[in-house]
Amino acid sequence: MPKKLTAILIGAGDRGANTYGDYALRHPEEIKFLAVAEPLDLRRELFAEKHRIQKKYVFTSWESLLKSDKLADIAVIATQDQMHAEPAIQAMEKGYDVLLEKPMATTIEECKKLVEVSERTGKLLQICHVLRYTEFFSLIHSIIQSGKIGDVVNISLRENVSSFHYAHSYIRGNWHNREEASPMILAKSCHDMDMLFWLIGSPSKSISSFGSQSHFGSLNQPEGAPDRCTDGCSVSESCLYFAPRIYIDIEPLLQVGSKGGKFFDKLISKAVLNNPKLKKIYPFSSINKFKEWPVSVISKDLSIEGRIKALKETNYGKCVYAIDDHNVVDHQVVNIEFDNEVTATFTMHGFSYEEGRTIRIDGTRGTIIGDFLFSGDTIRLMDAYTGKEEIIRKTGIISGHSGGDDRLMNAFLQTVKMRSQQEILTDARSALESHLMAFAADKARLENTVVDMEKIRN
Ligand SMILES: NC(=O)c1ccc[n+]([C@@H]2O[C@H](COP(=O)([O-])OP(=O)(O)OC[C@H]3O[C@@H](n4cnc5c(N)ncnc54)[C@H](O)[C@@H]3O)[C@@H](O)[C@H]2O)c1
Repeated sequence: MPKKLTAILIGAGDRGANTYGDYALRHPEEIKFLAVAEPLDLRRELFAEKHRIQKKYVFTSWESLLKSDKLADIAVIATQDQMHAEPAIQAMEKGYDVLLEKPMATTIEECKKLVEVSERTGKLLQICHVLRYTEFFSLIHSIIQSGKIGDVVNISLRENVSSFHYAHSYIRGNWHNREEASPMILAKSCHDMDMLFWLIGSPSKSISSFGSQSHFGSLNQPEGAPDRCTDGCSVSESCLYFAPRIYIDIEPLLQVGSKGGKFFDKLISKAVLNNPKLKKIYPFSSINKFKEWPVSVISKDLSIEGRIKALKETNYGKCVYAIDDHNVVDHQVVNIEFDNEVTATFTMHGFSYEEGRTIRIDGTRGTIIGDFLFSGDTIRLMDAYTGKEEIIRKTGIISGHSGGDDRLMNAFLQTVKMRSQQEILTDARSALESHLMAFAADKARLENTVVDMEKIRN
């Protein structure tokens, strides 16, 4: 890459600062952030300091940043779901190529408008569908393209959201209310709609869907559980969602369910709850030092005192059964028929013991079975003619969306430089298609109907 690109960052939160900001720090020869817009003082100051941004280019909102003249080549937009469309539109109108977090927008009209502005201004608009950039899904895509399993007939995809992740993001966190953020099928599963669209390689024809938020709510609040976990909960030892267990005691990766994980989990919980000094002699050194997601989200002060304060004051310490405005589904199924007559089913739920996606793809000559899990991924290929099974891929834990975050950023930067769509796998128009699938699934579920995709498109 000969020329270094310059960038502005809108939203220095978890994704903005820790994913894209971190990429720039690790690849200073590729990209440099020259300006930042972020209303939260701590986040803004930290980002400006780490990236050595001049004071005059540090802004408290995207509105004020985009009022100034064009400052850089690209705009990275990582604000919350409801604040995607407007800054992205204004940034493209100003002449920036844009990397925009998913979902591209929260209404059909805004999604269409984004595509219109990108095509009219000739500015790149890449939506962060990171799964396309993972080795796991790239490999599955190339096996399908190679014709090894014949013509694809059916795909069954599951998104098994782990219970701690569902509680963190979709009950206590930013995406717990569909009106404030976006429906679960859009917020979390637009990635999956995109994956089905990409693997099947055809627009969809009709969609039906069922699902609800059935488990969480006061009816299931255990007896003796106060509205906040830190107020002396009598079921703390047995509750999956006891907040100090998630944010203070354990490293979330330990929840992957390995034997060792379960053992440490229990032991460390007791040790830390009963005698915090024990952590000093405990052999598992990352305990309480773990400061990554999801712990990083609850507070900037990640000392034990800081974490306890956050649990006493924010939603992250509330009982999951006592959050009144939580209204996103905790399980949903979607049935899709595509224009090329391939069918697909998608299942999402928030109760998994381990985070991950599983996929089965049946073609006229063979089957692909894949597990894309927190603990690693595996792809198996079954040949229907020979009956042979081949393990195509097997890995351990890989962070950063299994390498997808880095590859996506790299592809975007290459594309901006080359001014071609060759590297970009998810341009605005294809992202629109998968977002429309998510809107259709939401409508089908709410109205108990089968949605004709042609009507949604028009
Ligand atoms: N691609 C993926 O796989 C993936 C994964 C996680 C999250 N996301 C998406 O990334 C986006 C950001 O998520 P996050 O977890 O980083 O959220 P976050 O809340 O940590 O970050 C958003 C930031 O935007 C800031 N902000 C608010 N108003 C602003 C304004 N007027 N101007 C500038 N900044 C403003 C907030 O203060 C916050 O720091 C969300 O839309 C989310 O859905 C994508």
